Amino acid sequence: MYTQSFSVPDDTGQKIKAVAAIEPPELMAKFDARIDADGRIEPQDWMPEAYRKTLVRQISQHAHSEIVGMLPEGNWISRAPSLKRKAILIAKVQDEGGHGQYLYSAAETLGVSRADLLDALHSGKAKYSSIFNYPTLNWADVGTIGWLVDGAAIMNQVPLCRCSYGPYSRAMIRVCKEESFHQRQGYEALLVMMRGTDEQKAMVQDSVNRWWWKCLAMFGPPDADSPHSAQGMRWGIKRVSNDDLRQKFIDATVPQAKVLGITLPDPDLKWNEERGHYDYGQIDWDEFWTTVNGNGPCNKERLSTRVKAHNDGQWVRDAALAHARKQQQRAMKEAA
Ligand SMILES: [Fe+2]
Ligand SMILES: [Fe+2]
Repeated sequence: MYTQSFSVPDDTGQKIKAVAAIEPPELMAKFDARIDADGRIEPQDWMPEAYRKTLVRQISQHAHSEIVGMLPEGNWISRAPSLKRKAILIAKVQDEGGHGQYLYSAAETLGVSRADLLDALHSGKAKYSSIFNYPTLNWADVGTIGWLVDGAAIMNQVPLCRCSYGPYSRAMIRVCKEESFHQRQGYEALLVMMRGTDEQKAMVQDSVNRWWWKCLAMFGPPDADSPHSAQGMRWGIKRVSNDDLRQKFIDATVPQAKVLGITLPDPDLKWNEERGHYDYGQIDWDEFWTTVNGNGPCNKERLSTRVKAHNDGQWVRDAALAHARKQQQRAMKEAA
């Protein structure tokens, strides 16, 4: 799924300023003209090193978020309440794995290796969306994640379909179609529960209470505190600001909450006639940064599960490579 504005710095050695100063002016002018004309930059095109590094950071953080995002919901596959819900959840979690694959492939077109990107994730240097560092405590959490987390991801990702980097923008078109299914299945699961017993309704309300504020933080820090945003906008990587996306999400979600019959846990949430938007309360940014910096409730668990899954899958990668080598040898023999 997922994004948290992807402008969060990580520790993968980005030394953008020093490099930007030595770009050749003619190439830079051509690049700027293409961006100004809303054209696309393709892998074979010249691009400034700072643009390339920004994209590597953003696309790899996005890819990591997709595959770590499989974990909180994956916990519920064996405990889904019916065959139908299990089938839907397996399909969704599998989609997220696929999103990770498209995005790692898109990042590879920028000259980095998937193995290095995964190393950065597994060693804790690279970031992924902080939303996945919270636990899924009840079945309603699966519905809430679909409705709110995937819903927030759609808001973030639809503008990325127009990103200036061709491979990223094309990957996002298919990703967004699948995210739309994720959001709808989550909302529908919650609707069914809200027509059920009092216990089911209470479970949904408890779940929404725990996830609402964390989903608002997914859009990233306020525009004033978002260091990468202005440059990202200039380069056509980021099209809409964090605060504008957050507002759009709130405005779209409040009516959906009314249909569901749940209360969003914000006493300051009110329609503002003058602005034509909902006003909302203060987001706890200290909690956000604590989690981004590795100290949320599930950071260690998520990382160790991911590392174990990667190590357990080593034999599959070895077997696939051995098979590919054999096929290649056979093809060369037949050609000879
Ligand atoms: Fe998703
Ligand atoms: Fe996804």
